[in-house]
Amino acid sequence: MINLIGSQTIETDRLILRSSKMKEQKRLWEILMVPEVNKWYLTSAKKYANNLKHWTWENQEKFYKAKVDNADNNDIFGWSVFLKSEYTNSGNEEVIGQVTVQENGSDIAIRDVGWYMDPIYQGKGYATEAAKAMIDYMFKKVEIDKISSGAVKDNIPSCKIFEKLGFTKIGEIEEDSPYTFYNGILTFSKYELTREDFFKNENNRI
Ligand SMILES: CC(C)(COP(=O)(O)OP(=O)(O)OC[C@H]1O[C@@H](n2cnc3c(N)ncnc32)[C@H](O)[C@@H]1OP(=O)(O)O)[C@@H](O)C(=O)NCCC(=O)NCCS
Repeated sequence: MINLIGSQTIETDRLILRSSKMKEQKRLWEILMVPEVNKWYLTSAKKYANNLKHWTWENQEKFYKAKVDNADNNDIFGWSVFLKSEYTNSGNEEVIGQVTVQENGSDIAIRDVGWYMDPIYQGKGYATEAAKAMIDYMFKKVEIDKISSGAVKDNIPSCKIFEKLGFTKIGEIEEDSPYTFYNGILTFSKYELTREDFFKNENNRI
């Protein structure tokens, strides 16, 4: 059994990860509407791809509200990622992305993970820092058994995050794009991190 403790606040050197609240959702929507962010992330039904009205904040707000309404449930693991004020361009704390852990099949101890970051703040190690904190939380506090996930092979930053965090590449698979704004066949790199390997890596790091 895993520990259903919900998305407690996690602090790292440069970031604070908090459960989703409504006040930062409009900025997250803006970030997710950037084509380079949503291309290999967003999986809403493809029929909405060319429906501009569907993507307006006026229409999207209800979906973000539904997410926030459940954000503090004990079986939800997802965080808004805030950059501490000393590292932002504005000098105030800013939301810069989101990291999440989803179910992956019927065994709730095996999980999938996802992340996106504001292009303004990409390439500075923030996604790696947030993902590492989230994965530590999932293995040490929630006590999951395994993360089974993957990314489009050409999504170099995302694949690098899996590799830097000690995941094992278990193969590649060609699939029809599941993404709303991308059509065609994609090659996915599949990655896994078992509980055993997570703790082995932890000990080797000392
Ligand atoms: C994937 C994503 C979250 C990475 O965010 P980030 O904060 O830039 O990531 P990091 O700074 O921690 O970088 C991770 C690695 O990718 C590399 N990287 C970052 N941007 C890159 C780019 N544009 N081109 C090549 N490499 C890049 C970094 O150098 C780093 O590798 P290194 O440590 O070997 O140098 C971000 O690119 C994103 O939001 N992408 C769109 C959404 C998405 O694809 N989500 C994942 C779906 S599986």
